[in-house]
Amino acid sequence: MKKVIAIYPGSFDPLTNGHLDLIERGSKIFDQLIVGILRNPEKDPLFSLGERREMLEAMTEQWKNVRVDSFEGLMVDYAVKVRASAVLRGIRAISDYEYELQMALMNRKLSPNLETVFMMPAEAYSYLSSRLVREVAQLGGNISRLVPELVEQKLREKMDPAIKLRDVRKTRTGKKQ
Ligand code: PNS
Repeated sequence: MKKVIAIYPGSFDPLTNGHLDLIERGSKIFDQLIVGILRNPEKDPLFSLGERREMLEAMTEQWKNVRVDSFEGLMVDYAVKVRASAVLRGIRAISDYEYELQMALMNRKLSPNLETVFMMPAEAYSYLSSRLVREVAQLGGNISRLVPELVEQKLREKMDPAIKLRDVRKTRTGKKQ
């Protein structure tokens, strides 16, 4: 029987619990789910591609049919390369719909056999976005339960490099603080 491979493309800057919720849902309906991180040279992301990939790999390890990859250029070309027949995108609220519809229809025009599948994340994440997480973290707000602990820690390190230095020292000396 033909295996259905789907791509879940995005910027993931950073990964949120909403993304993870969708990845888990996607892993249940597709034979293989490839989380495709967009490598966009025009954007200046908070996290490097390597950092985003590392976080995604650590947090999706539990789902054996999920793998993390990155791509550049048109998503439809990447889909051909990895033999994906579906694209997974999340719709949180009606406000997402217009942009997502536009993108899905453009992708259909470019690649008629590639099907876009929309899924809704849990309601608890319906207001959550990477952009807001970045903003709240940058302004010192609490982002626990919005992102995995690993991401929260990495965000804290980004905002305050002194935290990273302290943790490195802690690991070296074995001291608890
Ligand atoms: O998480 P994001 O930033 O909303 O994801 C947007 C993404 C990566 C899905 C979209 O920008 C994309 O597919 N970019 C690749 C270039 C491309 O194919 N553009 C035409 C889209 S119709």
